[in-house]
Order: sequence, then structure tokens, then C-alpha cells
Amino acid sequence: MERAAVIGAGAMGHGIAQLLAMTGLEVWLVDIDEEILSKALNQIRWSLGKLVEKSRVTEENAKKALERLKTTTNFEEAVKNVDFVVEAVPENLELKKQVFSRLDKATPNHTILATNTSSLSITEISKATKKPDKVVGMHFFNPPVLMPLVEVIKGEYTSDETANLTMDLAKRMGKTPILVKRDVRGFIVNRVLISMFTEVCLAVGRGEATIEMVDAAVKYKAGLPMGAFELADYLGLDVTYSISKVMEEAYGARAKVCPALEKLVKDGKLGQKTGSGFYDWSVGRPRIPFRLADKYDVERVYAVSVNEAAWLVYEDVATPQDIDTAIKLGTAWVQGPCELGDNLGLDMVLNKLKELYAKYGEEIYKSCPLLEEYVSKGWLGKKTKRGFYIYE
Ligand code: NAI
Repeated sequence: MERAAVIGAGAMGHGIAQLLAMTGLEVWLVDIDEEILSKALNQIRWSLGKLVEKSRVTEENAKKALERLKTTTNFEEAVKNVDFVVEAVPENLELKKQVFSRLDKATPNHTILATNTSSLSITEISKATKKPDKVVGMHFFNPPVLMPLVEVIKGEYTSDETANLTMDLAKRMGKTPILVKRDVRGFIVNRVLISMFTEVCLAVGRGEATIEMVDAAVKYKAGLPMGAFELADYLGLDVTYSISKVMEEAYGARAKVCPALEKLVKDGKLGQKTGSGFYDWSVGRPRIPFRLADKYDVERVYAVSVNEAAWLVYEDVATPQDIDTAIKLGTAWVQGPCELGDNLGLDMVLNKLKELYAKYGEEIYKSCPLLEEYVSKGWLGKKTKRGFYIYE
């Protein structure tokens, strides 16, 4: 792996190109517009400067990385000799298929074609090529230079070799790659995050708590770095909404789109970037009062996230260890949902889900058969030395 190209020089693409260049690859960064490319290059220069300032990269290595990186609008020319491509164009299936069809024709046979999609089907994208075994998901987190996690997703046709080479490259880039064994919507991190978001939206929608109460509990009791609504605002409500839509299409009533989210997006209130969303950001980052942390039952968030992790294990998407690592690195939660379930007791989690389902009848509270099975076998977590994990 010596030469790479990144297609799309937006928020994600320019960071991925910078990382590849810092890893020692010759990189072409491609976009449709020279102005976007020059902006991207300025951002890369700025970021490298910051890394030098913080002594994370030497001045010489930063200079070498910049020399290895070239920008162009000539798509076919840029990819004709590369070993690896990461596509980071906007989240639109038709557009991604067009890009992959062009890549298929313009790249050598051995070239791996990776997509940074956060919600689309890798299998569908791979069908636009004649080498679907070489197509793989490579989901970076924002900002790619700083976030340690990469989800590597196998589509239906992705070969083991392609997945392994992609995992190796992510490691060379200094990342922790997690293998997502099946091409399910939301992969790992967004599946668990959306399950939590579905629950907190329902709680607020029913008038049981305010967004501040939920966020105080999630932040100060559950130990997430931000509240759930604060995080949605921070990521951008348009982004959160588009992922929620895909999740609803894939999982139906289990992942209902939050009506309040839908309304804010329609009103153009997209969170931090527009100054308002669930919170008013015009006055800075929301202040979430600690005193509200007891006003929402945080065990509900625990229950749905442990349940979602159980579904991921049950569907053979990932191992408990990989799910926990992905959640800890992707969301900076202090614990992964499988560890959490084992610590709380899977019987307690199951009881909570049953109580919620009996009360509200919402699909999100339906327990995964795997949890039922573990509890019926007496695998209750740490206290019985067996749950998601085995304890000596
Ligand atoms: P963006 O809108 O900032 O950048 C996309 C870039 O692609 C634009 O500069 C656009 O001019 C360019 N582009 C459009 N058509 C093109 C073509 N035919 N050839 C070359 N370039 C083309 O989008 P962003 O946020 O960087 O997202 C890119 C992908 O990364 C999406 O699939 C998104 O779901 C995914 N992603 C985004 C994250 C985020 O936080 N922004 C996080 C993880 C994944």
C-alpha cells in the first residue's frame, strides 16, 4: 500500500487524506472544485501546524506529509495508479454508486475501494463495480485525525483479504480498527447511539422528562461526555436526522425517528452550526445543571443500550469485546454496553426492559432473545462469572 486517493475533500475527506499522507502514502485528494481543494489544503496545513505545536509530529514529518499530498479535480487521472481509495462524497446512494462505477473503470484490478459512508449499504455500493470483493466500508469518526476509532465493514461480497488489508492500513494510520462482520445499518456505534436516542426522545415526548433532565442524567450519571440531545446538536441535526431515517427504514418501529428532531430540521434549526437546535448555542455550549441528574431514570438508557449490544452479538455483527471497544472509542463513554450489562446484572437489565415494554408497548423495549437465553441459563454477568464475558 503505497499510493492512495481520497474522493471528496469536505469535512471528512481532507482529514483522511492528511492521515494517509502522515502514514507515508502518496495521496491524491480529489474534488469537483478547485476552491474546495484549496480550502482543504489550508485546513490540512493548519492541522499539521497544530500537531507540530503539540509535539505530536515533528516539523520535518509534517513537511514530508504535505509533500506527499496533491490535490486535483481530474478524477480518472488521480486514481489510475493507486492501491487504495477512500470515498468521502456526500451521503447519497446514487452519487456514491456513480463514483464507484467510475472508480471501477479507472483503477487497477488490485485497488481496494473503501467508502466512508455512515449509514448506507456497502453491499449496494459494491454492486456498482465489477469487483465487489474489493469494496469495503471504512467508517472514520469526526475529526478523523483525532478520533481513534475506525469501523471496517464487510459487505456481502467483501473478501477477507480486502477486510484484513483495510484493518492493517487503519492500524498503520494509528487507529484502532473494529471489524463489523455484517453490513447492518448503523454498524456498531450508531446502532447503540440511536437506541439511546430513541428512548430519550420517547421519554421527553411523553412529558416524563425535559431534555435538560435527560442530558444531566446521561452526562453526570451514565458518564457520557455529552448529553444525548447536546450530542445530536453538536453532530448536526441534519446528520442525526438522516442517520435516524436510515435506521427507521432498516429497523422499523424499533428505531422511530424522533418527531421533535424532525420538526427542528424542517425549521432549519440544525444545532450548533446554525446557533439553535434542541439548545440555544448562540450563547455558547449549553450548561446542563447537575442538580437535574436524578430527574430521569438513567437505567432506561442502560437497558436499551445493553439490549442493542445483545442484538449486535445475536446477529453476529461483532463480538462483545469489539462492541465495547467501538463504543468507548467512538463515543468516549467510560464503559461499553456489554461490560455495563455484566456489571449491572443481565437479569436486572431484562427486568427493566420487560417493565418498560409492559408499560409502554414500544418495540425499542422488546428484549433480544440472546438476553433471555443468557438469563435463563443463569449467565447474569459478573456476579455469576458469566454474561457477555467469561470471568475467571
Ligand atoms: P462534505 O459535504 O463536507 O464533503 C463532501 C465533498 O465531496 C464535498 O467537498 C463535495 O464537493 C465533494 N464531492 C461531491 N461530489 C463529488 C464527486 N463526484 N467527486 C469528488 N468529490 C465530490 O461531507 P462529509 O461530512 O465530509 O461526509 C462525507 C462522507 O463521510 C459521507 O458519506 C458521510 O456520511 C461520511 N461521514 C461523515 C461524518 C461527519 O461527521 N461529517 C462522520 C463519518 C462519516
